[in-house]
Amino acid sequence: MEERIQEGLLRGLAGFYPGSELLKRFGDHIQSLVEAAERTAEDGDPERHIAALLALEAVLLSDLLSDPEAREVVHGEDMQAAMATSQRLFADFECRLEDAFVADIDRVKDPQRYLSDCDSETRGYLARYRALAAAEIALAGIGPQDRVVFVGAGCLPITAMEYVRRTGCRVDAVEILRDRAAQAGAVIDRLGLADSLQVIAADGRTVDFAEYSVILVGVLAEPKAAIFARIAGSTAADSRVLCRTTEGLRQFIYKPTAPESLLPYQAQTISRARGFQTLSTLCLGRVSLKPDGAA
Ligand SMILES: C[S@@+](CC[C@H](N)C(=O)[O-])C[C@H]1O[C@@H](n2cnc3c(N)ncnc32)[C@H](O)[C@@H]1O
Repeated sequence: MEERIQEGLLRGLAGFYPGSELLKRFGDHIQSLVEAAERTAEDGDPERHIAALLALEAVLLSDLLSDPEAREVVHGEDMQAAMATSQRLFADFECRLEDAFVADIDRVKDPQRYLSDCDSETRGYLARYRALAAAEIALAGIGPQDRVVFVGAGCLPITAMEYVRRTGCRVDAVEILRDRAAQAGAVIDRLGLADSLQVIAADGRTVDFAEYSVILVGVLAEPKAAIFARIAGSTAADSRVLCRTTEGLRQFIYKPTAPESLLPYQAQTISRARGFQTLSTLCLGRVSLKPDGAA
C-alpha cells in the first residue's frame, strides 16, 4: 500500500497513514468541498459560492498527488457523482464569468484597457487562457500564415483573440449557440479585431475543415466523436489538430476527452496543465484504423 504514496508530495505522510487510507481521506475531502460548493450554489449567495469553488479548485490544482495517486482518487468509490457535480458547477461558473466579461466589455469606455487591467479574480481567469494559448501556439508551431478554427469558442473568444494577438494568424471561432455566437461577434467588433477573427454560429459537426491549417477542439465541445469524424472527413492531410482535455484531479473541473472519441486521431504529444492551469492540450496525429474501427 505505502508505495502508492511514494511519488507525490504527500510521500512525507506515508509514515503516518497507510497509503490507501491517506488517498481515501483525500477523496473524502474533495467530496466534502464539492458538497459545500453545491450547497452555496443553492443558497444563492454568489460570494460564498465563489469562495467555495476557489477552495475546491485550490485542492484540485495543488499537484500534491502523483499520477497513479490521482488516478486512485478519481476512480475511488462514489467519486463519479462528485465529479459530475463538480464539472457542472465549474461549467456554470465559467459561463457566468464569461457573461459578466462580455457585459463589461460592452459597457466600459476602453475595452482593450479593461481586458489588460481588470480586477484580480477575473485577471486570473484571463491569465490562465493567455498562458494556455501561448502553450498551444508553441505546441502546434502556429504562425502568421496559419488559418485556425476553434470549435466551442463560447461568448468570450479569449483563446482566438490570443492566437491573433500573439501570431498574427487568422482565426474562425465556432460556437453552436446563436446568442453566444452573437455576443462573441459583438466583443470582436468592439475590440476592432474583425479583420482577423470571425465568429461563426455553427455546430462543429457541420463545419468544412478543408480550409484550415490548424484545428482546435475545446474541452466542452461535444459530441467529440462526431466532431472528430467530421474533421477526419473534411480536413487537409497536413493540418495540425489539437484537442483540449484534463488529467488527474483537474478532471473534477472539466470532463476529460476520451481517447476513443478522437479516432481516427491519436494523441502524439501533450502540453500538460500544471500549477494554476486547468487544461492540457493534445496534439493529434492520424492513424489508420483496423476493420473493426480500433486504432
Ligand atoms: C463556455 S465555452 C468554454 C471554452 C472552454 N474554456 C474551452 O477551452 O473549451 C464552450 C462552448 O462550446 C460550445 N459548444 C459545445 N459543443 C459545440 C459544438 N458541437 N459546436 C460548436 N460549439 C460547441 C458551447 O455552447 C459553449 O459555449
